[in-house]
Amino acid sequence: MPEIKILPSILAADIGRLEEACKLCERSGADGLHVDVMDGSFVRNISMGPEVVRMAKKCTARLMNVHLMASRPDFYVEPFAEAGSDTLLIHIESECDVGRTLAEIRQCGMKPGVTLNPETPVEDIVEVLDEGLVEEVLFMTVHPGFGGQSFISEVLPKMRWLRDRCPDLDINVDGGINRETSVESARQGCNYFVIGTHLFRADDMATEIALIRESVRVAQSGSDVS
Ligand code: DX5
Ligand code: ZN
Repeated sequence: MPEIKILPSILAADIGRLEEACKLCERSGADGLHVDVMDGSFVRNISMGPEVVRMAKKCTARLMNVHLMASRPDFYVEPFAEAGSDTLLIHIESECDVGRTLAEIRQCGMKPGVTLNPETPVEDIVEVLDEGLVEEVLFMTVHPGFGGQSFISEVLPKMRWLRDRCPDLDINVDGGINRETSVESARQGCNYFVIGTHLFRADDMATEIALIRESVRVAQSGSDVS
């Protein structure tokens, strides 16, 4: 099975104290940071841009997993590459040529990824997958735009479908992830866990990351945890 990564979403952090948040994630054992970029058009919210990635990159050596919720992600590939993004995830529902944009992401030295909203059929990404343009997939398990929402469990069968088809692909789950929903998603084949509210509200982020890492590892290997 592919490697497990726990990626705190800094949307849930105090962005005015970004350095502190980055250091907290790093010393708590996070594998990277998930950065939610919202353009006010694809979703009804505006969040951060490339400058936040650039600043975060100065505070931690961990990987930058950037989730671009934008109508025209093709406009922003170069700025995010220059800012130091490691992965750039664009939405299949966006208004650009997704295949071409994924190819450009790779040309710019980043790992190309595609994201699906909760209602989007997984079959919609088959074409870009079969063309070899995708190295990472992200399943939204909440409606994009805001943190702190509840996990939509109807998405779970799509994860299983994709994992059965692509045994080595890195599959993210994002939205409403906690101790229980991380295990449910791991059982359906997810290996990257994006976690905002649950980690930033935890009494001790390190303990929580260690606990989730171990329980998803067990779930992935087919055994149960209680
Ligand atoms: C929502 C974002 C998520 C969000 C997850 O549009 O894509 O990454 O930060 O936050 P929680 O874990 O609070 O659901
Ligand atoms: Zn996200």
